[in-house]
Amino acid sequence: MTAPVNNATASVDSAKNPVADKRVIVTGAAGGIGAALATELTARGARVVLADLSPAVTDTAVGLGSPAAVHAWVGDVSSVDGIAELIAFADDRLGGVDMYFANAGIIGPTGLGDSDGDWDAIIDVNMRAHIRAAQALVPRWQEAGAGYFVATASAAGLLTQIGSAAYSVTKHASVGFAEWLSLTYRDDGIRASVIAPMGVDTDLLRASGADGPAQAAVTEAGTVLTPAAVANVALDAVEAEQFLILPHPEVLDMYRMKGSDYDRWLKGMSRYQNRLNEANRLNEETTHAGND
Ligand SMILES: NC(=O)c1ccc[n+]([C@@H]2O[C@H](COP(=O)([O-])OP(=O)(O)OC[C@H]3O[C@@H](n4cnc5c(N)ncnc54)[C@H](O)[C@@H]3O)[C@@H](O)[C@H]2O)c1
Repeated sequence: MTAPVNNATASVDSAKNPVADKRVIVTGAAGGIGAALATELTARGARVVLADLSPAVTDTAVGLGSPAAVHAWVGDVSSVDGIAELIAFADDRLGGVDMYFANAGIIGPTGLGDSDGDWDAIIDVNMRAHIRAAQALVPRWQEAGAGYFVATASAAGLLTQIGSAAYSVTKHASVGFAEWLSLTYRDDGIRASVIAPMGVDTDLLRASGADGPAQAAVTEAGTVLTPAAVANVALDAVEAEQFLILPHPEVLDMYRMKGSDYDRWLKGMSRYQNRLNEANRLNEETTHAGND
């Protein structure tokens, strides 16, 4: 017996499929979420330029096979010159850019940061990179009547990142910028989405200070997802043109709770931070005692 074909779903999917055959740039694609997005995009029929500061992006692209559909670009996606070079590369290899996944990100300094330099780096990568890419692409997309900007922000862009002001602030900026793009250019046929996960098993999470409060805040709050799971949820949502993409659905409840009573939420987060700091202090004491 053959399974019944769900014609309704099939026609919806084929009518609204912004991914197949699209020409796509994914930044921060050497590994982690960016590599998983590129993998999922190529599996769904897109042609992709994987961009990263790390030369390892070349091996990642080779690993995806299909040399005609997958290209690697090594460079800085936060600078105006880097972005112009990247887009020119995509124009040359793919014949244009239909979708831009602004995914590259860094964790930045802990606490308040010590200097302007600490903040400049993370503002450039997590925030200005998005603005600069949109400045280069939106006029072209307005002319074409179509284009899609997807920002990898974070649940820290809706809630906050315990232990890191710069990460919290730049991720809020990323959400705010994508939101502004979405409503401003909707009638030009341009779409925007923002991916806002909690913990994902990548180098960035591992670099956020093993056993420190920042990492514990993320890993305790919910399941640490694989990059592939995040990419799958994200691409389904992009194909449905959904703005807010929450790979951890419980983030919506946390966000609602924050919006419904901001002061209560702040007090709760402060208590939670104190608990994490205390656990961290005890952990450090135990480690030092073990080393004596
Ligand atoms: N891992 C998590 O728990 C988590 C949770 C929420 C959001 N995010 C966000 O997901 C995105 C991807 O991070 P990830 O977790 O896959 O970590 P990752 O470290 O594996 O990937 C980030 C990539 O960005 C690249 N990159 C950094 N600065 C760059 C620059 N100037 N130019 C080009 N490439 C640059 C890095 O080389 C790296 O390959 C980031 O924006 C991050 O903030 C991650």
